[in-house]
Amino acid sequence: MEKGILISSELLEKLPQDFDHLNFFNQATKKLNSKLFVINENLIKEVLGDKYFDNIPTEQEIINSDDTASIIVSDKQYFNKTVYPSVKIIKSYNEEEQKRDVQCFVNHFKNRYEVMRKILISRQDLQESVSIIRLSRKNEREKVSVIGIVLDKQETKNGNIKLTIEDPTGVIMVLVNKTKEEIFNLAKDIVNDEVIGVSGAMGKNILFCNSLYFPDIPLNHELKKSPDEAYAVFISDIHFGIKNFISTDFLKFIAWLKGEFGNEIHREIARKVKYLFITGDIVEGIGIYPGQEEDLEIKDIYEQYEEATKYFKMIPENIQIIICAGNHDAVRMSEPQPKFDKHISKGFYEIPNLNIVSNPAIVNIHSSENFPGFNILMYHGFSFPYYADNVPSLRNAGGIFRCDLIMKYLLQKRHLAPAHGSNQYIPDPRGDNLIIDLIPDVFVSGHLHQITVSNYRNITLINSACWVVQSADNAKRGIVPNPAKVPILNLKTRQVKIMNFLSDDVKVLLSERIGVI
Ligand SMILES: [Fe+2]
Repeated sequence: MEKGILISSELLEKLPQDFDHLNFFNQATKKLNSKLFVINENLIKEVLGDKYFDNIPTEQEIINSDDTASIIVSDKQYFNKTVYPSVKIIKSYNEEEQKRDVQCFVNHFKNRYEVMRKILISRQDLQESVSIIRLSRKNEREKVSVIGIVLDKQETKNGNIKLTIEDPTGVIMVLVNKTKEEIFNLAKDIVNDEVIGVSGAMGKNILFCNSLYFPDIPLNHELKKSPDEAYAVFISDIHFGIKNFISTDFLKFIAWLKGEFGNEIHREIARKVKYLFITGDIVEGIGIYPGQEEDLEIKDIYEQYEEATKYFKMIPENIQIIICAGNHDAVRMSEPQPKFDKHISKGFYEIPNLNIVSNPAIVNIHSSENFPGFNILMYHGFSFPYYADNVPSLRNAGGIFRCDLIMKYLLQKRHLAPAHGSNQYIPDPRGDNLIIDLIPDVFVSGHLHQITVSNYRNITLINSACWVVQSADNAKRGIVPNPAKVPILNLKTRQVKIMNFLSDDVKVLLSERIGVI
């Protein structure tokens, strides 16, 4: 106020405590060449860059349930049963038996191209983009823009990147010169089969790239907050049936949900939990990897699901559970994975508060007369290791230990598995089910047995942890689990806290096996 600067209290909450307001004021005045009165989010992005807010992690606080753990007797009046949660399934894949042929694959990619083109063409710089066949009529050095699907990416002998892109009318080479550092680094992270926008100058049968565009999330995506306080909690990768399942800690988690575990603060939060998301690998399954037999406590797939049902029935009925399959579950491996089998996972269909969806799926929660609710994108995450290994910036940042960056990368591509080969999939002539066409409020996944919480353009990104310690198969694949951590999302504040249900004896076991706690 002394300097005549106004800043909203909401923005103040978002900024880091050490944000240098005076320095920012001076930079902004210089850059915009005008006297400054109001600091808002757009102005900060304008002065400090689009990505400024992406680098500020969502506020997290670890609540360690062991610190003040206490078991109490459940009070039947404990939960307010007059407030019912709302769950609406927006997108869940329904399998239709049909023969798949080459034409199905062609239609699959045509459909993907069309959806992505519509997203990209809304960008001002791409509004004049032309079809590839029309490039042959352009003069050399003429400025052009095109939208295409990446067929190939090569490094030339001079160290530049040569992309081959295609649209329904033709194919063109695109050269990204290494001297253009910013776009060169973006090009290094491009994978085959993603849809991109390119603008540049025409050469002889080649386009010299000046800018690259990805479908991405719009900057103005709204941060929704619910009018009342309620919580959604997220878990995954329970792997019922494996010897390494940490049942004691999982039971502590259920006891907490029932209001029978934790201190007053923990119990107060539990009372407001209305939604529990479980993002796949419910059971360990059978025949998933060679030698798995040795790791199994329950060797029968039906019994593994019976065990899961037994635990899920302990969860209070006032909590809506939303559940999808992962690659260990007894549904087909190819994505989209359909809902659980009614025969093998029979018990699930008898639990009144269990909502079963496909993988991936979009579920809307907590809507009311005056509030549209939150759209939650659930995806188990089978494609993630491919990007951790094959995208240089992700590999260099820590690979499979940086689920937050992998999830952000896929949001920028608006696809859960853009590269053919990053997952097994069934082409669907009705549309590509792994496209992120509806922008979610929360994107949740699992698979990597890590816990990460972050924020990208007002989308909360959560990779839920697991309930197993490291198996021999995990060790082979370089997976170091971080078990029994539960992210809890306050729907009113959008703040995420992480509850830790890991017992001390498991911590000792973990440190013996994998050298970390
Ligand atoms: Fe998995």
